[in-house]
Amino acid sequence: MDKLLIEGGVRLSGEIAISGAKNAALPILCAALLTSEPVTFTNVPRLNDIGTLLRLLEQMGVKVSRDGDTVTLDAGGVNNPVASYEMVKTMRASILVLGPLVARFGEAQVSLPGGCAIGARPVDQHIKGLQAMGAEVKVEHGYVHAKVPKLKGARLFTDMVTVTGTENLMMAACLADGETVIENAAREPEVVDLANCLVAMGAQISGAGGDVIRIKGVPALHGATHRIMPDRIETGTYLCAAAITGGDVRVTGTSTCYLDAVVDKLMDAGCEVIGERDAIRLKAPARLTSVSLRTAPYPAFPTDMQAQFMAINAVANGTAVIRETIFENRFMHAVELQRLGADLRIDGNTAFVKGVERLQGATVMATDLRASASLIIAALVAEGETTVDRIYHLDRGYERLEEKLSALGARVRRIR
Ligand code: EPZ
Repeated sequence: MDKLLIEGGVRLSGEIAISGAKNAALPILCAALLTSEPVTFTNVPRLNDIGTLLRLLEQMGVKVSRDGDTVTLDAGGVNNPVASYEMVKTMRASILVLGPLVARFGEAQVSLPGGCAIGARPVDQHIKGLQAMGAEVKVEHGYVHAKVPKLKGARLFTDMVTVTGTENLMMAACLADGETVIENAAREPEVVDLANCLVAMGAQISGAGGDVIRIKGVPALHGATHRIMPDRIETGTYLCAAAITGGDVRVTGTSTCYLDAVVDKLMDAGCEVIGERDAIRLKAPARLTSVSLRTAPYPAFPTDMQAQFMAINAVANGTAVIRETIFENRFMHAVELQRLGADLRIDGNTAFVKGVERLQGATVMATDLRASASLIIAALVAEGETTVDRIYHLDRGYERLEEKLSALGARVRRIR
């Protein structure tokens, strides 16, 4: 298993480019299943999760061609609407093939994703929505079996805000008979990016980005070309890395417009954040001020940035209170940060983080994608060397992380 070795103590400086958004690319690649014509995507990040999804689509009969960050998918010859457990267990976002398969082929067999480190992560809302649109859905032997001659537009309400739930149902509704209204829809920018791609393919969607999305079903979608939006969580992660080291960093190919809540907190922590048209520059103080936060659906503070902010609070001046309201078990990075010397205490879904002067390098273990990022951020300022183990978690969501960090001056290397 690969490890990362990081020597702390370098102030990051310089400029790096942000990749396309993982959480936009995953649903958007699945949208290709909705048409028999080829669809081309640009700015697709080179990540393990993307590779896994492309292998799953290929298994279904989708023709995949890839040239750098451009991917063309042709689902004209799909003959196998099944997503096997072997594929789905490694990447729960595979559930995003369910809506498109049912909409286009009238049937699907998709393995239940199962839980993951951060929580049970059920898909009951995805299923409830498809049933409301007329699909017969059974969950047997760990698989979701869905069948329907033709989906019908319906008024859908999700019990909680669910990002992939909204995305799955929005894709399914594109080819349904009549109009679908999704109430309590997720407002994340990635949902909007998916809606923009679907509209380019001929879908009739209005309201994406708000909490009520209307989709008028059409008989078929056609090919299109779509550029994936920048990854706002990768952006926030590098801004945190710059902030914790007292650095001066510019991240390009991105913008502050999807990150208001995160930029707000970085400024409260004492950073100067300058938003440019296609880039963000962050200049950090010698020592950050503690910032408390509470995660919630967009546009509030994103849960995917919670772990990174626990790391920067670990060495900030003061005490921060961090509340995680989305997932039931998303503090696993806390015990690893304690191994680096962080002074924090967990009480249910609340973490109390008292900033310390210095962290000490140690061997730590990554448990999930964003927890890994948090350990890397802490390691950048820990005294001496830190070894981060199990970094396959990182490779799922961060493209060429050690290359980008090294370009900013960090002393980091991967050992196989
Ligand atoms: C998406 O996951 C993201 N993944 C996650 O990013 C992100 O943390 C999450 O949204 C919240 O923003 C992708 O977009 C691929 P949810 P998703 O459905 O859609 C509960 C990362 O690090 N729920 O919005 O799976 C669920 O358990 C990943 O990039 C149900 O109970 O999250 C959770 O508590 C991690 N039933 C809450 O809702 C359902 O049917 C929000 O989950 C669906 C969700």
